[in-house]
Amino acid sequence: MENKKCVVMQIIYLLGFSCMFYLSLAVAVEKVAVLEPQGETDSMQIYIVLVERPPSNFNAQSDHEDLESWYQSFLPQTIANSNQLMKPRMVYAYHNVATGFAAKLTGEEVEEMEKKDGFIYAHPERNLQLHTTHSPNFLGLQQGLGLWKGSNYGAGIIIGVLDTGITPGHPSFSDEGVPPPPAKWKGKCDFNGTFCNNKLIGARSFQGGNTTGAPPVDIAGHGTHTSSTAGGNFVKGANVFGMANGTASGMAPYAHLAMYQVCSEQGCSESDILAAIDTAIDDGVDVLSISLGGGSATFYWDFIAIGAFAAIQKGIFVSCSAGNAGPDYSTTSNEAPWILTVGASSIDRNIRAIAQLGNGQEYDGESVFQPKDFSSKQLPLVYAGDHSHDSSALCDVGSLTNVEGKVVVCELGGGIGRIAKGVEVKRAGGVAMILVNPDFAGYTTIADVHVLPATHVSYSAGVSIKTYINSTSTPTATILFKGTVIGDQLAPKVSFFSSRGPSLASPGILKPDIIGPGVSILAAWPFSVDNATESKATFNIISGTSMSCPHLSGIVALLKSSHPDWSPAAIKSAIMTTAEVNNLAGSAIMDETLFAADLFAIGAGHVNPSKANDPGLIYDTQPDDYIPYMCGLNYTDQQIAIVTRKLVKCSEVGAIPEAQLNYPTFSLFIDPAGKPQHYTRTVKNVGPAKSTYELAVVSPHNIDISVQPEELTFTEVNQTMTYHVVFTAQKGAAKNGIKFSQGYLSWVSHQHSVRSQISVIFDT
Ligand SMILES: *[C@@H]1O[C@H](CO)[C@@H](O)[C@H](O)[C@H]1NC(C)=O
Ligand SMILES: *[C@@H]1O[C@H](CO)[C@@H](O)[C@H](O)[C@H]1NC(C)=O
Ligand SMILES: *[C@@H]1O[C@H](CO)[C@@H](O)[C@H](O)[C@H]1NC(C)=O
Ligand SMILES: *[C@@H]1O[C@H](CO)[C@@H](O)[C@H](O)[C@H]1NC(C)=O
Ligand SMILES: *[C@@H]1O[C@H](CO)[C@@H](O)[C@H](O)[C@H]1NC(C)=O
Ligand SMILES: *[C@@H]1O[C@H](CO)[C@@H](O)[C@H](O)[C@H]1NC(C)=O
Ligand SMILES: *[C@@H]1O[C@H](CO)[C@@H](O)[C@H](O)[C@H]1NC(C)=O
Repeated sequence: MENKKCVVMQIIYLLGFSCMFYLSLAVAVEKVAVLEPQGETDSMQIYIVLVERPPSNFNAQSDHEDLESWYQSFLPQTIANSNQLMKPRMVYAYHNVATGFAAKLTGEEVEEMEKKDGFIYAHPERNLQLHTTHSPNFLGLQQGLGLWKGSNYGAGIIIGVLDTGITPGHPSFSDEGVPPPPAKWKGKCDFNGTFCNNKLIGARSFQGGNTTGAPPVDIAGHGTHTSSTAGGNFVKGANVFGMANGTASGMAPYAHLAMYQVCSEQGCSESDILAAIDTAIDDGVDVLSISLGGGSATFYWDFIAIGAFAAIQKGIFVSCSAGNAGPDYSTTSNEAPWILTVGASSIDRNIRAIAQLGNGQEYDGESVFQPKDFSSKQLPLVYAGDHSHDSSALCDVGSLTNVEGKVVVCELGGGIGRIAKGVEVKRAGGVAMILVNPDFAGYTTIADVHVLPATHVSYSAGVSIKTYINSTSTPTATILFKGTVIGDQLAPKVSFFSSRGPSLASPGILKPDIIGPGVSILAAWPFSVDNATESKATFNIISGTSMSCPHLSGIVALLKSSHPDWSPAAIKSAIMTTAEVNNLAGSAIMDETLFAADLFAIGAGHVNPSKANDPGLIYDTQPDDYIPYMCGLNYTDQQIAIVTRKLVKCSEVGAIPEAQLNYPTFSLFIDPAGKPQHYTRTVKNVGPAKSTYELAVVSPHNIDISVQPEELTFTEVNQTMTYHVVFTAQKGAAKNGIKFSQGYLSWVSHQHSVRSQISVIFDT
């Protein structure tokens, strides 16, 4: 398990973060409020403290001051009264996202605070992890046509990105063609001079309570990459080492961007994330793009879920990465139903590098670094693991000896970055690297900016290569570089690292919701990674659900621009019910095993922006609809109020089962011997006024589905209709040992097909 986590981490490793920060805590400071004696900081950490709304008799000035003095009243008196030289204790006072604050406290102080009336809970903050030239074309977006034209490339929409910062002045953030921001924009840009423009309209830094106005300069690159993927402008001739050359652009090239820097090399702390969402809501963003997260958490303990709820109450769409903890089940982050949870798949572009063996066999792999002067002469080939301990098979730092002049086979994984393995091979005198997948990574290959001639090949290729090495006393190999190859008919494929459902926090909601491009994505970068680019137009090619999330955020901006009246849930429904379930070859989307991916990998399927723009019907949901849903999760009234920030009485609103939420997919737990399960769904007509939809059902194995009515006839736009659906386990379903099963139901008219995926887990 530990190893696995580290494998996951290496996606992030190449961004300059190491496996270590999984364990690291944010060292935190400050914003003047209550003071602490110096020298007492050792046992302190930042807690997020949630409290009830101030009582009505509480001394109030303005709303915000009222809240702040209410929050102050929870801090320990001894601190306030001390005469010693003090350091501030209150880190953030929240007002949109939570009734609560972040403060530096000791465990004892928290125990004191727990006794006060109005206290709900104090939670030591966690540190969360960070989890394109061609992808617009791959997604069917073309200049001057269709959705790009219809939405004016996202003009007028503001995308807020929570990340590592941004690189102002990069051509991806040029404002050519971008109109001034709408009047509702109230945000700030902390870059000086002309760095902020009509494209980059906001830039703030939140670092352990540091909101001193320091500009959010991106040192890591991650935030520059995600921002430009969501809303970067057109840049011609974008490439890395000449690979993937073409016109780079974000999904919404004329949208506005606002960066909220919440991550440093120590990770991304929850109090900063919450403060950033709090601010973004005041600023007036339309979409929040959050490519980071922790593990699964109950929603009232999950600060991204809590912040996102406040956002959707204001009509702000929240798109998040699903996590890089696949391919195991139940590994998704950011699972709340009011969030769009995005998994990662490949595009039809390979940056091909072929491993050619002495026996003539060739195996396709990938690498971005493709030196022209590398000869195709066969060289001695060695498996790194033959030499000493295990860590050498993984090409861990300092582990390799006797590889001078050789091509070295390294195993992927072990918490060592893919690029770092190449650094070790190079250090030890190796001339090239063949990176082979472990079993669980299957056929996923990733194009990285390696430091030496290299290729990343599949598990099956790795087994063949190792068998060949065993079969001869003089194994040899070389790498043949083939450059950029477009047209992989098996794309999109779910990559091994993309986190999978079922959701742990709410198993009755199918997660992830959607997949989008997240493997070998080219986008803006703060500096040149190939030393060849002399202009400011520097790019990098990296992978992760961090990359797929901003693709969806940008697409949401396009949809919001073309349908300003759609709610976050309506946009989400449009994206999900129109998603593709087949690859370019027309067969079911595959995962890293090259077998059909299940719904816990793809959710509704692969995003199709043009179809999402015209879904026909939508499954809408209002923020208050999540209250009976949370009652159904058996949360207490107080726990629900943490999320909704208003008084809730489940005894009055009632509880619904999770699967009764008006969600565009179904996730069911069915006891084969149990009673039939009844649900309703309500659809709204956003297509032609007069339209008729017929039911089409593919039942999950061993499940009977009956739907009433079987035809929906609309006469008006915005008209809603409700249908009833009953799921019944067939006799004998218990006997045949099937655990999962899946199907779908669709409403089909002449012009539209509105699909709801159905996943069933047999609950035995
Ligand atoms: C403006 O920002 C640049 C880059 O961050 C910095 O070098 C420069 O000193 C700043 N100028 C002022 C006046 O703050
Ligand atoms: C906060 O800012 C100060 C001054 O710029 C710096 O010394 C400190 O390291 C910062 N703290 C964090 C957590 O970034
Ligand atoms: C990228 O493509 C453009 C236009 O086709 C071409 O002019 C340029 O030389 C190419 N750059 C590289 C590095 O291949
Ligand atoms: C190659 O030989 C080694 C040592 O004999 C053995 O452990 C390994 O399983 C073999 N690998 C393959 C792929 O046959
Ligand atoms: C780029 O230049 C730096 C500094 O000179 C060097 O360390 C690095 O290896 C170079 N990278 C490439 C890909 O040539
Ligand atoms: C909530 O509690 C009820 C009654 O104890 C139980 O039947 C149900 O399964 C629980 N629901 C969840 C989601 O835990
Ligand atoms: C449909 O509803 C939206 C608001 O939800 C409204 O803006 C729009 O004008 C309505 N369309 C029609 C044709 O009634």
